[in-house]
Amino acid sequence: MAEVVIVGDSGAAGALVAEAIVSLIEERPDAVLGLATGSTPLPVYDALAARSQGLDLSQVRGFALDEYVGLPAGHPESYRSVITREVVEPLGLAPERIRVPNGAAETIQHAGADYEAAIQAAGGVDLQILGIGTDGHIGFNEPGSSFASLTRVKTLTEQTRRDNARFFDSIDDVPMHCITQGLGTILRARHLVLLAFGAGKAAAIAAALEGPLSANLPGSAVQLHPRATVVLDEAAASEL
Ligand code: GLP
Repeated sequence: MAEVVIVGDSGAAGALVAEAIVSLIEERPDAVLGLATGSTPLPVYDALAARSQGLDLSQVRGFALDEYVGLPAGHPESYRSVITREVVEPLGLAPERIRVPNGAAETIQHAGADYEAAIQAAGGVDLQILGIGTDGHIGFNEPGSSFASLTRVKTLTEQTRRDNARFFDSIDDVPMHCITQGLGTILRARHLVLLAFGAGKAAAIAAALEGPLSANLPGSAVQLHPRATVVLDEAAASEL
């Protein structure tokens, strides 16, 4: 059973999770962080940047959850660009120590296996930050994803493309495919920290934490993890 923490607002959640990350890095300077994109984890990265003075982040490694397939290199909404902008630069991390799945079409055949090998070579993820989609996806594991799945190419649902259209000029510009760590990959991380804010996430959170374990509810995979912490505001917790 996941530990659920309800906080006043996303700022408080960010401070709480940043503190857990600081403790991890103090204990293990070469900690491996699992990084999520989307708006939800931004308060964590902000709080970590504010807290990072005097903290040696030079040996920290990171693996992003997912990436769009086929966006031109350097596209501002590729998750490589987002992670660079929101995490690598504000925290002054070494860019080569932060990996994002490679969504380039030419190498996509082996990109999943390459990514799995890189995570394993790093010794696995110590702390995985997660958001959740309104359809219950984590990473880009849309409903129907196997709990045993590893990093692979998936097709985005219409709902996710609509949700993410706000980052693009129009929904037609949102890629159809993505490459994402699988639920099996995510479950191998030693600590999962799932965050959600706002009433729009309440149904997905209730289904993930209290619904049946189901491939149709990818977030329900967190119920299988021995160490999962879920940090919510009141609105996201309102259907629990
Ligand atoms: C995106 C990402 C997920 C993220 C989710 C929620 O599509 N691939 O990793 O958790 O959707 O996004 P947001 O935090 O912006 O609500």
